[in-house]
Amino acid sequence: MKLAVIGTGYVGLVSGVCFAHLGNEVICVDKVNEKIEMLGRGEVPIYEPGLKELIDTNVEAGRLRFSTDLADAVNKSDIVILAVGTPSLPNGEANLTYIKQAAAEIGAAINDYKVIVTKSTVPVGTNEKVAAIIAEQTNQRFDVASVPEFLREGSAIRDTLNPDRIVIGTTSEKAQEWLTQLHSPLTDNILVTDIRSAEMIKYASNAFLATKISFINEIANICEKVGADVTKVAEGMGHDNRIGRSFLKAGIGYGGSCFPKDTQALIQIAGHVDYEFKLLKSVVEVNQDQRFNVIRKLEAILDDLQGKTIAIWGLAFKPETDDIRDAPAVEIIQTLLQRGASVKAYDPVATSNFSRLISHPQLKYCDSKEEAVANADALCLLTEWKEFAEISLLELEGLLRKPILIDGRNVFSEEELSQTSFIYYSVGRPN
Ligand code: UGA
Repeated sequence: MKLAVIGTGYVGLVSGVCFAHLGNEVICVDKVNEKIEMLGRGEVPIYEPGLKELIDTNVEAGRLRFSTDLADAVNKSDIVILAVGTPSLPNGEANLTYIKQAAAEIGAAINDYKVIVTKSTVPVGTNEKVAAIIAEQTNQRFDVASVPEFLREGSAIRDTLNPDRIVIGTTSEKAQEWLTQLHSPLTDNILVTDIRSAEMIKYASNAFLATKISFINEIANICEKVGADVTKVAEGMGHDNRIGRSFLKAGIGYGGSCFPKDTQALIQIAGHVDYEFKLLKSVVEVNQDQRFNVIRKLEAILDDLQGKTIAIWGLAFKPETDDIRDAPAVEIIQTLLQRGASVKAYDPVATSNFSRLISHPQLKYCDSKEEAVANADALCLLTEWKEFAEISLLELEGLLRKPILIDGRNVFSEEELSQTSFIYYSVGRPN
């Protein structure tokens, strides 16, 4: 099939490349000239394992190209996929400016019947608005559909090519037929719903996953006080199929470009229909506070942070990405600096993004994990990159000025620690 994908962010780029990989002809469109030029040169604007190789293969095979010309891409396509950003407005609502602009441009360009798909995460009712905006611009026939995206950063290609389910929200038989044909190489598990339910499925899924994380983090906080081990508790819970094992890893809370934004947006969506989503508000509140446990634990050991040097391992909101949006590391480092500490930070790939966000005379970005810990008074592990787990704790002990380790992701085990003299605080496990 012939596809135009509007927006080359995470969702647009990965979806476009994966659809090309399945044999479709794909044009990825973006307004930002530099991005399209970069992609044209074979450079990828985001860090995502395997993405560059897949782009190269499909560009070479002639199935994938990049363009700033939306009208041309729409003209040459059967299906147009909207994958532009929907960032948060200051009140938490999703900002639909880019969606509306793109819809108007699609409407002005349409030359024949098209199926217009929204993959961006949008509030319930947005696809109807998209349809109305397009209809204002054209007399051509078209149908709209909501096909929400469930990929995760860091495993985006694997998730896109092996989805648990595909949700197609549309009332049009033709759109249903085309989109089923497009997605059927990926899975048999295709659920067709009305448009509003599809839009809601995306928010409800992210809100539920965020709820699991805040729930297990609160259990972890209680475990610390009653002397239980949250990793064992989560395992024991997860064996119950009704609960499931995933998303029960206690830590310093969720970050990233999705859960924080989508939970806030769903609270706003509910508020607009006079419903207070109390549970989700608590999920957000618990998440916001969880990251400060790192500071509280440091202060419990060091007392005053003034003049201390704290090493930070991990800046990205999770491993295998350079994304630092809403990463717990941001507020943790800001708080350390406010309290007079010096910070030495290291991340395998997210340092340059982070250094554009925070620059401070007491904050040093390091080129290796060893450099970050050298002569530090304590180490805080904030992202569970594989290379951190691989270090010898005995070697680490020798590098730090004081053997203090706050493990925000439960990377190390009690057995490993017992061979060392570390003062070790993890999350929800006996110290
Ligand atoms: C999330 C969803 O998992 C995807 O299904 C969805 O498509 C995506 O948002 C989106 O809406 O675009 P993502 O934010 O990339 O994906 O990453 P996750 O792997 O879900 O992790 C989110 C955060 O939760 C991370 O900060 C991670 O450290 C944290 N987390 C995750 C935990 O603290 N504990 C867990 O058990 C799992």
